[in-house]
Amino acid sequence: ANTVALVPAAGRGELLGDKGPEALVPVNGVPLVVHAVRGLLQAGCVRRVVVAAPPSATEHTRSVLSEASLDALVVPGGADRTESVCLALEAALGESPELEIVLVHDVVRALTPPALVRGVVDAVAAGAPAVVPVLPVADTVKRVDAHGVVTATVDRANLLTVQTPQGFRADVLRRCYASSAGPGTAVERAERLGLAVTTVPGHPRAMKITTPFDLTVAEALFGTPS
Ligand code: C5P
Repeated sequence: ANTVALVPAAGRGELLGDKGPEALVPVNGVPLVVHAVRGLLQAGCVRRVVVAAPPSATEHTRSVLSEASLDALVVPGGADRTESVCLALEAALGESPELEIVLVHDVVRALTPPALVRGVVDAVAAGAPAVVPVLPVADTVKRVDAHGVVTATVDRANLLTVQTPQGFRADVLRRCYASSAGPGTAVERAERLGLAVTTVPGHPRAMKITTPFDLTVAEALFGTPS
């Protein structure tokens, strides 16, 4: 199937400290955006990657990708993730209006295993309109009141945390963003449209790298096979 991956990568990366845009923060010497794009291309089922880069670092993002011999379309991102995804989607449709499957993959999940990317694409190709990778909740979850006092223990059995890449039939993603009304990720928009969102098993390596602690974990994982 004609599959494109959109990579919202325009976040400022404030939690990582004073390191500049998160897309360019190095994990063992290699910028996050390079890890993320490489992982998508290594899956072998993604025809094109479109990166929504920090507007002030669009050229820099292009050059780190081409230095790594990675072919991607880099466009300036927007003020929030939703805007960045919309801008990348427009660019992808401008290049190839006949898209069939679209992935949305956060640059901060840079070490996502290619096998997870394939799992999401396969599930959409098999007929699911929207697919999200999930993990069980490991910790006990409590509900608290406004003072932080525990009011209940939440049953974890039907709680899951979600990761990316999230996969969509192209017509579904276009519909999700057709009305810009309301906040939320593409998956939340799909839920609001009443579409069934299917889950596939996620992977610990698809963790978000947004704090110095995450960066240390990512550097320790880097270089070992997924
Ligand atoms: O900060 P947040 O959790 O929303 O970031 C999720 C993803 O969205 C990150 O990959 C980040 O780079 C991206 N993002 C973006 N454009 C923005 C803000 C965040 O592409 N203006």
